[in-house]
Amino acid sequence: MSGLTTLGEAALGLVLLLGIFQSGCSLRFEVKDESNKTCILADLSVYFTVDYKMADTKTGKSNFTLPNTAVLDNSSSCGVKNGSAVPLLAIVFDSGNVLSMNFTKTDTDYKVDQLMFTYNLSNPVLFPGSTENGTKQVASSNTEMSAHTNKYYQCSNPHLIRMGNANVTFHNVKLEAYLNGNNYSKDVDVCKEDVTPTVTPTVAPTTPPVNPKTPDTGNYRVNGTSGAACILAKMGLQLNITYKKKDGKEASFRFNIDPKLVTVSGSCSNTSALLRLSSDNLALLFTFTLNTTANKFYLGRVSLNTSVPDAAEPNFVVDSGSLSFLETATHKSYKCNTKETLKITDKFSMDTYSLHVQAFDVEENKFGPAVECADDQNGMLVPIVVGAALAGLVLIVLIAYLIGRKRSHAGYQTI
Ligand SMILES: *[C@@H]1O[C@H](CO)[C@@H](O)[C@H](O)[C@H]1NC(C)=O
Ligand SMILES: *[C@@H]1O[C@H](CO)[C@@H](O)[C@H](O)[C@H]1NC(C)=O
Ligand SMILES: *[C@@H]1O[C@H](CO)[C@@H](O)[C@H](O)[C@H]1NC(C)=O
Ligand SMILES: *[C@@H]1O[C@H](CO)[C@@H](O)[C@H](O)[C@H]1NC(C)=O
Ligand SMILES: *[C@@H]1O[C@H](CO)[C@@H](O)[C@H](O)[C@H]1NC(C)=O
Ligand SMILES: *[C@@H]1O[C@H](CO)[C@@H](O)[C@H](O)[C@H]1NC(C)=O
Ligand SMILES: *[C@@H]1O[C@H](CO)[C@@H](O)[C@H](O)[C@H]1NC(C)=O
Ligand SMILES: *[C@@H]1O[C@H](CO)[C@@H](O)[C@H](O)[C@H]1NC(C)=O
Repeated sequence: MSGLTTLGEAALGLVLLLGIFQSGCSLRFEVKDESNKTCILADLSVYFTVDYKMADTKTGKSNFTLPNTAVLDNSSSCGVKNGSAVPLLAIVFDSGNVLSMNFTKTDTDYKVDQLMFTYNLSNPVLFPGSTENGTKQVASSNTEMSAHTNKYYQCSNPHLIRMGNANVTFHNVKLEAYLNGNNYSKDVDVCKEDVTPTVTPTVAPTTPPVNPKTPDTGNYRVNGTSGAACILAKMGLQLNITYKKKDGKEASFRFNIDPKLVTVSGSCSNTSALLRLSSDNLALLFTFTLNTTANKFYLGRVSLNTSVPDAAEPNFVVDSGSLSFLETATHKSYKCNTKETLKITDKFSMDTYSLHVQAFDVEENKFGPAVECADDQNGMLVPIVVGAALAGLVLIVLIAYLIGRKRSHAGYQTI
């Protein structure tokens, strides 16, 4: 165990230190069909961190890398052309630990649709002192591993995928599915972690003002495959990130998203809708999720990749993992004129201004009926209370006047 842990820790240290690994340590996996044609080709280095239960409600943390004894599992396949099965790459190691990914494609691109990791808690080397036996499975369908058809996917920097109790970090990855020949295509699509930010920031100013002005409101739209809108978002955004400066001190940096400087892109599937705002040195991704049983959508994930001028680490990368912000019934839109602060992680929060958003079931490219946030409703309360008080005052004055008139009238009569 200690050998494995130190190996794991050394590997993590290297990942953090160098960012980029030698491709020599990646393992090659190849899935072929009956006619020996390659359908998946992958060079992978993988680092795992798993939390597990120990006695006395203690939590163990196991760190290990994909060992070079890992082999292709028999369940790997190229999928059935007419049926529902999709290409599957499954890798097995240390008896009972299986890392698998299945692929899907559209006319233009393909992706790792789901990543699954089965780990064997009965393995005393990997999980010493585990109070649980047998295997556990975790999965994620938010892998962000995709490329255009006839291009291979490459990611040299660490690419983290969180799945319940397990974190899986890929690095030095070269991957292609639905291959044309038996080797990688010529062209490459690199992951967002590998996109080197340009030196001159266009969105983040070099000398951060302490309090930037209220951000301009942008109107963003993402179209579904039919061309109709599947995300509508009207919002002003101000980001606050906390980072380590070159001198080791922590600092926070606030900046606005300028709607005129960002490019909007995204995509929608039945239950997941992605809005991406990007510029030369920034990529901000919002993932909305649809819960079909509850008929609700919500902001399920936010990730940011940007550069900070005086930071020790030039690249600031954060990923929220799963969130449930702005929950709204389907066919409706979420509205919040009042400034709202979304705390994405300890190091990243986002203020929204004049927010109006809807994902999924957008009819005629227009917002559905708005559900106002609590702060807006409280904001409405003040005029209502003032109005009611004024009305009450008018009533009291009127009653007093009528009583006064009656009295003076009566007084006149007695004379
Ligand atoms: C596929 O390749 C293997 C080993 O390279 C070979 O033994 C087998 O005959 C080939 N099968 C076909 C259908 O070409
Ligand atoms: C899990 O590990 C134990 C101990 O190494 C082994 O006996 C068992 O067969 C493994 N389980 C599976 C499903 O492979
Ligand atoms: C796990 O399995 C081993 C062998 O089957 C058994 O001796 C042990 O008691 C089991 N532990 C738990 C917590 O069930
Ligand atoms: C496959 O392509 C790589 C470069 O992408 C090359 O180094 C390798 O030799 C090729 N393999 C075969 C069998 O052609
Ligand atoms: C969505 O479609 C509208 C209307 O066709 C178009 O103006 C807009 O640019 C499209 N948005 C994106 C992000 O492609
Ligand atoms: C930014 O966020 C950090 C951490 O949440 C907080 O301490 C800091 O005050 C914020 N900065 C500004 C300018 O609001
Ligand atoms: C998405 O929804 C459409 C229409 O309801 C359905 O035909 C299709 O099978 C769904 N796709 C997936 C992947 O669930
Ligand atoms: C959908 O919502 C229901 C009810 O709130 C909840 O029980 C269920 O876990 C949710 N499903 C997903 C996939 O989040």
